[in-house]
Amino acid sequence: MANGQSSVPNMPNFPGKEHFRGKVIHSVDFGQSDVVQDKSIQHIAVIGAGKSAADMVYEVVKAGKTVSWIIHETGNGSLGAAAFAPIDLPTPYKNGDANISNYNLAEKTAGGCHFADFWPLVAEKVYVYRGDVKLLDGNELYLNDKNGTHFPCDAVLCGTGWKSGLDMFENHTLMELGLPYPKDIEPQEVTAKWEKLVGKADEQVLRRFVMLRNPPKHYHK
Ligand SMILES: NC(=O)c1ccc[n+]([C@@H]2O[C@H](COP(=O)([O-])OP(=O)(O)OC[C@H]3O[C@@H](n4cnc5c(N)ncnc54)[C@H](OP(=O)(O)O)[C@@H]3O)[C@@H](O)[C@H]2O)c1
Repeated sequence: MANGQSSVPNMPNFPGKEHFRGKVIHSVDFGQSDVVQDKSIQHIAVIGAGKSAADMVYEVVKAGKTVSWIIHETGNGSLGAAAFAPIDLPTPYKNGDANISNYNLAEKTAGGCHFADFWPLVAEKVYVYRGDVKLLDGNELYLNDKNGTHFPCDAVLCGTGWKSGLDMFENHTLMELGLPYPKDIEPQEVTAKWEKLVGKADEQVLRRFVMLRNPPKHYHK
């Protein structure tokens, strides 16, 4: 199976979306949408903390839209390494020039498009919220925070990543073929086997990196 990890969009199921008058678009469709050009779309919410979300934030803020960036409380996403890579220092990431991403496998570099003005733009122009979407209604978006935050919204852009694209197989076939399958159907003896192996591996790591035994409080996904 070589059908990729980024082929089936993960679309959140937003409560109230049937009464929402704006657009809801996944990053996979963003490039072909008219969100940037459409002057009637001014208030935009971007969901997720990955590189796709960051790219959409950048595009729409540059186009002069009002942008709210919503990242769930526990969220981490893939943004870290990719977006923090300095533009002018050697990094594992090869910086693309404006619209040119230099995917050069021969040089073992990863391609990406990073812009020097990304963080200044976010700091000055983007409203960043930590929380989840509670409701879409008309042209409003409501967050689930304790202040009952809500704001106008003409389009929701989902940089929410991807789902496993293996649902052409029944679960038992996935298991037979040794492909990834949902955790909740894993036989108990298989769970036990992996827990034992992971426990052993953890012990080796903790013996070597003693500091990790009592780490500060952190989120486990
Ligand atoms: N080279 C490039 O220029 C480039 C451009 C785009 C993407 N990429 C790569 O492509 C891969 C996928 O990136 P991606 O940004 O598309 O996806 P991603 O890294 O999987 O990020 C998805 C984000 O959406 C959040 N999310 C998922 N479901 C959500 C929900 N229901 N409500 C709120 N937030 C939700 C996730 O939070 P949690 O993680 O907390 O669940 C995460 O922050 C990465 O390896 C990335 O580096 C590369």
